[in-house]
Amino acid sequence: MAAKIIDGKAIAREINQETAEIVAKLAREGKKVGLAVVLVGEDPASCVYVRNKIRACAEVGIESKHINMPADSTTEDVLKVIAELNADDSVDGILVQSPPPPQVDEAAVILAIDPDKDVDCFAERNVGRLLIGEKKGFHPCTPWGVMELLRRSGVDPRGKHAVVIGRSNIVGKPMAALLMQKAAGANATVTVVHSGTPDIARYTRDADILVAAIGKPEFVRGDMIKPGAVVIDVGINRIFDEQLGKHRLVGDVNFAEASEVASLITPVPGGVGPMTIAGLLRNACIAKELK
Ligand code: GUN
Repeated sequence: MAAKIIDGKAIAREINQETAEIVAKLAREGKKVGLAVVLVGEDPASCVYVRNKIRACAEVGIESKHINMPADSTTEDVLKVIAELNADDSVDGILVQSPPPPQVDEAAVILAIDPDKDVDCFAERNVGRLLIGEKKGFHPCTPWGVMELLRRSGVDPRGKHAVVIGRSNIVGKPMAALLMQKAAGANATVTVVHSGTPDIARYTRDADILVAAIGKPEFVRGDMIKPGAVVIDVGINRIFDEQLGKHRLVGDVNFAEASEVASLITPVPGGVGPMTIAGLLRNACIAKELK
């Protein structure tokens, strides 16, 4: 295997230690950081993610409030909870785990969250600030995590060709925005490819930095990667492994093939996943600091 593995768990641990120090400093100033996590329904993957977020809060000293709502909740039910959390001074950040059940209007819920408590950086105002390069305020958790992985692994995107696979509001779009930012640690030339792009490999083969966020198990094969590229795998897919006879987690990249070609690569699990949570915890501190 040629590629070096980027240890997202270790890097997230380092960031969370820094976050714990920020939380402690705020506490000394009488400012307790509080985060509310809302989960609608019982999707097994979402339950795991929410549990991990709550546990991570406790580890850095953030007070968390876990609100579990029934799977048949209506948009109005969720909006009522959001209104209460918006008005609650002990709650600095609000996160509604995505995706909610189909009857809940997710866009309406996101819009209802006080933008000053929008720790996912989903609100129009915060997305706008991100796009114009405003440094103050929230960062989008996963894309920020990817930038930190690059920075702390000694990868400078400046002048490089970064290809992002996927155009979601949660990863692809903000990822492209951060990589192209006119700022230290960014300044890449960015291409975004997606499900509507014919011959995706044509673009990925030219990528110095390849970020896969398309939600398709092992979509990126070894022959789609430029030798020596840095490969960041944002995907988390649960597949049934015939040989093992059980389910296992895989990314959007075929790890065995990619690690023969890339110079640096993130594993799944243990790559980008822990960084998303690290970003969330940092945003909760930012919410308190902005008050
Ligand atoms: N579902 C998967 N990732 C995320 C995330 O970062 N935030 C929220 N709210 N939901 C998610």
